Amino acid sequence: MQVTWYGHSAFRVEFGSNVVLIDPFLSGNPKFEGKLEDAAKGATHVLVTHGHADHLGDSVEIAKTTGAQVVSNFEICDYLGAKGVTNLNPGNTGGEVECGDFSVAFTQAHHSSGIFENGTNAYLGNPNGLIIRPNDGPSLFHMGDTAIFSDMSLIQEFYAPDFGIVPVGDRFTMDGKTAAIAVKRYFKFSKVIPCHYGTFDLLDPSADTFVEGLNGSGIQVLTPQPGDTFAV
Ligand code: NI
Ligand code: MN
Repeated sequence: MQVTWYGHSAFRVEFGSNVVLIDPFLSGNPKFEGKLEDAAKGATHVLVTHGHADHLGDSVEIAKTTGAQVVSNFEICDYLGAKGVTNLNPGNTGGEVECGDFSVAFTQAHHSSGIFENGTNAYLGNPNGLIIRPNDGPSLFHMGDTAIFSDMSLIQEFYAPDFGIVPVGDRFTMDGKTAAIAVKRYFKFSKVIPCHYGTFDLLDPSADTFVEGLNGSGIQVLTPQPGDTFAV
């Protein structure tokens, strides 16, 4: 798998003939310096963990311009359908949907999900973590935005994801220290990458406490710069 981080929670994951964008918040993302059309080029799937604007991001435009299939919760798929997106693959917590060469499992995330439009927050279902599970090869768990919760142990038991994408910026999600505890206590990742930090002043500026918390754990922590591509 080739993974590119665009800053915040936005990733491009390439494996086989699949080009999967996760939470493609690119326009307005202060850490994203490339071009939207380059980041979205050849996208086959767009995965959206929850409805907040810093995750839904450019999903509508990307889905319309590339024809990529959007995988997200039922309410977000309804919302995108109303915006003219037609290639939708809805799921919900506890379920798993087929995407050809891989499936996507919907896990819990302790957070919220909505978008502020027309003076109010539109309800966009419950937030999820999403696990990309190739038929052949390692699996990747994007936790979305979440607090720590002890049922993370069930996620490990049922799906045993190989690679973890973990929010560490505090305020809206786990902080780095708590996120490191979650990783050590509940998962058996070979590699992790912290995200959802340093994007805005409201968030922790670095992932240092997360990295420190995993020192000596044997888990490889990747801390790319936004725009970097790496293999997992
Ligand atoms: Ni959020
Ligand atoms: Mn967020």
